[in-house]
This record gives sequence, structure tokens and C-alpha cells, in this order.
Amino acid sequence: MKAFRGEILSVPEDPLHAGPAAIRHYPDGLLVVEDGLVMACGPYAELSSRYAEAPVEALPGLIVPGFVDAHVHYPQTECIASHGAQLLEWLDRHIFPAEQAFADPAHAAAIAAFFLDELLRNGTTSALVFATVHAGSVDALFRAALARDMRIVSGKVLMDQGPPGLADSVAQGRAETEALIARWRGRGRLGYAVTPRFALTSSDAQLADAGKIVASHTDVLMHTHLSENLGEIAAVESRFPDAQDYLDVYDRFGLVGPRSVFAHCVHMSERALGRMAEAGAGIAFCPTSNLFLGSGLFDLAQSDRHGLKIGIGTDVGAGTSFSILHTLGEAYKICQLRGASLDPFRALHLATAGGARVMGIADRVGGLMPGQEADFIVLDPGATPLFARRTAGATLHDRLFALQILGDDRAIAATYLKGKLAHRRGAAPGVLA
Ligand code: GUN
Ligand code: ZN
Repeated sequence: MKAFRGEILSVPEDPLHAGPAAIRHYPDGLLVVEDGLVMACGPYAELSSRYAEAPVEALPGLIVPGFVDAHVHYPQTECIASHGAQLLEWLDRHIFPAEQAFADPAHAAAIAAFFLDELLRNGTTSALVFATVHAGSVDALFRAALARDMRIVSGKVLMDQGPPGLADSVAQGRAETEALIARWRGRGRLGYAVTPRFALTSSDAQLADAGKIVASHTDVLMHTHLSENLGEIAAVESRFPDAQDYLDVYDRFGLVGPRSVFAHCVHMSERALGRMAEAGAGIAFCPTSNLFLGSGLFDLAQSDRHGLKIGIGTDVGAGTSFSILHTLGEAYKICQLRGASLDPFRALHLATAGGARVMGIADRVGGLMPGQEADFIVLDPGATPLFARRTAGATLHDRLFALQILGDDRAIAATYLKGKLAHRRGAAPGVLA
């Protein structure tokens, strides 16, 4: 048993529904961890005598749950900041060539290790991750995640209509998906997501097959892209003239359900959002990506009116940062352009328990609740001279908002996985392992 003493904040419920009661804040708190799980979290004055035998480590800064990145592409790590195109042309010009390199297991292993260390440096402890069409790209990521004991959900990308060198077939897609599920099921904190890239890169037969695979495994997610870019939406409309809308394409193939996660959802009809809500599907809101590719402004209030599950995705390499703090800052600006103001407590909820709910892991992580895995980070509101000046003497609300607007990896003083130090700012990756 071990205990961590410091200022602790978590937002396990959505403040939109639960109001201020959603916010759990202990200015002098104690987080008690045993076997990697939270035993108790509350005021130091109440808990210290009950857990007197636990050695206590003081953590200066603000302790919050580890971030959840609800949509990111690890093979695009090296393509971040590729200039000059919107989605479909950007894929052809920058992304597909880079993804071909993941046929080489050594390359996949090197990028997977760098990627996961980068997540930890940015305070991200759980993520829903796109790999590539190569089964080996998933093996590489899962192996590296298992070594770090991270909560990572991923899957081989299905894309039988992909470009030459990056296309599978229906049969190969199914066989590799089934083999990966069998190989990795139940290991560490890993999970599988059946991952058709998007409607345009799979045949009708492969989309239908993906629906069957999802139906036959109750513990897997379905992870894809939806309604991101106007050019993409027009292409989907012309290929599927009978569908009611883009979501309906996925729906017809059994891909819309409570375990489905759709990245983007920038241009959505009320019908489609209503159907997603009815099905219990979730959204990954990817603000830096939507701005970078010029995709559009996600309408958080519209999704909220339908009561949808929402998480935050960096979507690197269309996203421009691995930092969930920075991503929340861009989310705030997108909401401003939509005439709404994203509250910092709600932003923290979306980036932790909200994302965990989208990924179906809210019982395991995201709220620092007793019984959950003790994945947490220490935020440093004094990380730079400007942060320090802006946050000195400020209220919790203002400190949190300053971190959201000004923060990035510099504000992550430390990252803990199951109560163990996994990253300390300034330390070289891997030295703590
Ligand atoms: N739609 C299909 N593939 C991709 C991708 O790799 N990135 C983004 N942002 N959208 C996609
Ligand atoms: Zn994406």
C-alpha cells in the first residue's frame, strides 16, 4: 500500500448533468493505492489515520486522473505537421506513403515505443489508437503497451479499397482481425477495436464483415471516422446514394452500436445524432485536427442536446499536438466560434472520465474512484514563468482554465500508471522502467 498527498481534483461525472457535485476537489487530499488500484481518495484529514500504515509521498502540484486520448493514429507520429491539403488529398500525399513503412516490424516497434513515451510525457495514460493495415503494426503497439502496462485499445485497419501497397482483402482482414483478438485478448490492460478506416476505403463486403466481427465479440469496440470533411462526405454520398446520410452507411452494415466510436462528427444532421444517441455510440472530438485540415467546427452543444457520449481525441497526425491540455485549449476556441463557452471542469471531465466512457473503460479509469486503476498525473501550474504569474493566488477554476489554454507537456510534472511513476518531467523516456 502507498499513499500520495497533495491537491487532488477529479470530475468523474459530467458537470453538464451533475452540476457542481460532479467536481471532487481536495485541497489537501490523500490518494491511497494498493496493487495498482485506488483504495481511497479524499481529504487527508479524514483518511490519514485510517491508512496510517501506508507510506506517504507528497506531490506538489495538482493531481488529476491520467488523460484519455479517444482517437489517435500512432503510425502518423512522424507525419505530424505535414503541409498543405485537406483530408482526402492529405491522406494520399502524406499519410498513405508513411503508413506503408509499417510493413516493417522493426519500424513499427520503434515508432510504437516513441509514441507511447510521448503519450506519457503528455499525461495520457489510456488511448484508442489507429494502427495500420498491417497486423504487425498492432502487435508492435500492443507489445510496447504491455511493457509499459498502459491501457491501450487498438486494431488492425480494414481497408480493402485502400491504395496499392496498403490494401487488404475481406478474407485477410477478417483472418488477421480474428487472430489479433485471439492473440491479445485478456493481456495486460489491452483492448481490441475492429477498425474499418472509413466508408471510402472498404468495400460493402468488408463493411458488412466488420459488422459481423463486432457482433461476434462482445468485448471489442468498433472504431472509425465519420463526417469529418465536406469533400469526404460528398464522396460517400455519391458512392452510397441510397443511404440517408453518412452514419446510415455504417448503420446498414451493423457498425452503429454502444461499442462504436466515431472520430470527428463535424457535419451531422439531427437525425444522425439522434440515431447515434439511440444506439449508445460515442464521439471523439478532435479539435486540433479539425482546424489543421480545415474540416470544420464541431458543434458540442448540438451533440449535447442529443446526450451523446463524448471524448477528446488528439488525432495526431492530422492533430497538431499529443497534449490533451493543448487540445482542450483548441476545443475551447472551437466552442467559442460556435457561441458556447467550454467550462474547464467539463473539459477535464471530457478528457478523462468522458473519454473513458466512450472507450467502455469508465469502470476502470478516469475518475480516481475506489476500485479504479490508479492512473494519475501531476499538473504544474507554475511550469513556466507565465503560468506561474497567471495562476498565483488564482481560484481552482482559473488555474485549471489557465492550464487548458496555456498548458502542454511542460505542465505535466509526472505521470503515474497504476500508482507507479512512469514519467517525470525532464527524465529520459524509459529510465524509470
Ligand atoms: N479518415 C480516414 N483516414 C483518416 C486519417 O488517417 N486521419 C483523419 N483525420 N481522417 C481520416
Ligand atoms: Zn483519425
